[in-house]
Amino acid sequence: MKDFYQYASPTRVIVGRDLLGSTGFEFKKEGARRVFVVTDGIIRGTGLVERVEAGVTDGGLEVAGVFDDVPQDSSTDVVERCAAAAKEAGADSFLAVGGGSVMDTTKIADALFTHGGSAREQEGFLLMPREEDGMGRPLDIAPLACIPTTAGTGSEASMAAVIKDHEAKVKLEIADFPLFPRLAILDPDATRTLPAPVAAATGMDAMTHAVEGYVSTESNPHQDARSIQALRMIRDNLERAVENGEEDEDARGEMLVAANLAITIGLGSVHAMSHSVGAHFGVPHGVANAIHLPHVIRHNARGGAEIADRYRDVGEVFDVDDPDIGEALAAHITELVARLGLPTRLSQAGVPEDAVPDLVEGAMGDGTTLLNPREMGEEDYEALYRAAL
Ligand SMILES: [Fe+2]
Repeated sequence: MKDFYQYASPTRVIVGRDLLGSTGFEFKKEGARRVFVVTDGIIRGTGLVERVEAGVTDGGLEVAGVFDDVPQDSSTDVVERCAAAAKEAGADSFLAVGGGSVMDTTKIADALFTHGGSAREQEGFLLMPREEDGMGRPLDIAPLACIPTTAGTGSEASMAAVIKDHEAKVKLEIADFPLFPRLAILDPDATRTLPAPVAAATGMDAMTHAVEGYVSTESNPHQDARSIQALRMIRDNLERAVENGEEDEDARGEMLVAANLAITIGLGSVHAMSHSVGAHFGVPHGVANAIHLPHVIRHNARGGAEIADRYRDVGEVFDVDDPDIGEALAAHITELVARLGLPTRLSQAGVPEDAVPDLVEGAMGDGTTLLNPREMGEEDYEALYRAAL
């Protein structure tokens, strides 16, 4: 038995087809009245947001405004603009329609909208405002709902949000219970127009969550159950969803559920490396994870029998069994990444060799480093980045 762990999953998740028209009906039950919709220009261009807006008003709620200015790689200034726009619009709740960047922007914008101040003031793990001088119940933020348009980040059911802090060139992360959205709507219609490369990259993010969550020092039986089922669903649906796209509603729906299951607060060095590469070079998060995952698996699995056994469980899902499980599983994942049409090397993603020292520093400073099953030092990261180049 583990000495201690804590597990919470308070987000109400609804899954099915043709749910977008019920957005207002469902969000009303979470206390929303005047909804501020947050999205990006590309998603708005697909017509999806209009259908969601119709669903909001059908349920008797009002659309207070739409903010469609979230970039691929969102940041502190975007979040501040979004919160100010919601105030200006007289909104009382937030609805994110988008991928990880949109959802994370919305979560932090909601926190600023509710509590004021800057994102940096709430940065960290369990540091959002609480009753009784910070010791009591965390203060709620305005009702928040998410409709994910990628099957990857799982942010629609997580208590964390990550954005870029432009000045510091690092990722700023807030993780606390109030950031669990109250409602997540998983409808494959929302991923219908997702381009194949984005479906591939975000799917690899979900896979990384499942693998890292399973081997992390924070792993626990509650999360294990989710990770393993997520891996089974990713095994059966990721390639199908990427290849068949619009045609395969079932595979897209299953991937939305898999990503939602895979999310965890216990990550590891893949995320540490990817956060650093993302902050310095804007490499999309899922692409960076796809590149780093095999290297970290190979490294970690050599860190002792107990760690290797965890990877053996992961290998079992993919029918990979070998005395050198790290090597075999890494090779299996590299092949999958290549079949998905994603880069397998950092140099293909625009990362130069002379950046390694800065990347190492970023990875060492990332909170997920502490959750990796094998203790990591600067030389370890240096070797991993060089191997991934
Ligand atoms: Fe991730």
